[in-house]
Amino acid sequence: MKFFIDTASLAQIKEAQDLGVLDGVTTNPSLMAKEGISGEERVLQHYVDICNIVDGDVSAEVISVDFAGMVKEGEKLAALHKNITVKVPMTRDGVKAIKYFSGKGIKTNCTLVFSPGQALLAAKAGATYVSPFIGRLDDVSTDGVQLIESIRTIYDNYGYATQILAASVRHPMHIIQCAEVGADVATCPLSAIVALFDHPLTTIGLEKFLADHKKAQQATAKA
Ligand code: E4P
Repeated sequence: MKFFIDTASLAQIKEAQDLGVLDGVTTNPSLMAKEGISGEERVLQHYVDICNIVDGDVSAEVISVDFAGMVKEGEKLAALHKNITVKVPMTRDGVKAIKYFSGKGIKTNCTLVFSPGQALLAAKAGATYVSPFIGRLDDVSTDGVQLIESIRTIYDNYGYATQILAASVRHPMHIIQCAEVGADVATCPLSAIVALFDHPLTTIGLEKFLADHKKAQQATAKA
């Protein structure tokens, strides 16, 4: 399963990249706003900066809601760098735009997906990625991971190549559960990725190994 980081923070992207397990980045207008990135030129430059840190797909979301606007914006985004993936919302115009981009060989990520039917439409239109938002479903008492499982079954039934990108991941158990049900990608906050490293028995075990090694060395030195 690929690990993407879900942020527009260059510092966090660099930190995740340094861990050696990062495969890509997803952003959205809220994450860009959180970093104070606004104005067309600044936004475009920020995507280029991200692409220069990570060698993997970088989702850049369109702001337009009509087909013509999405096409214009998406083509501009895609021209920035070979790793740019145009992120398009799950709407009628969005699905039409995904079909258009797919015909032009432009990578797409269909975002704001909350049902198997929406995921089926995204795959039929030729989306590169589909983004079911599992955390937001959990927030409204609906099983987000179960949606990933359902989409996995549907895509496997028909051999759709669209990759399931589990989004709105909130904690490390989400990552494990997504891996168990066969998500292709999980896009995660840095905190959830970093949390996977830790286990108290690893810490205790390493301390014991090092203490035993030190004792053995001291014994050799005395002999
Ligand atoms: C997906 O690509 C979105 O950027 C993101 O995962 C949304 O997560 P949130 O529900 O934590 O805002």
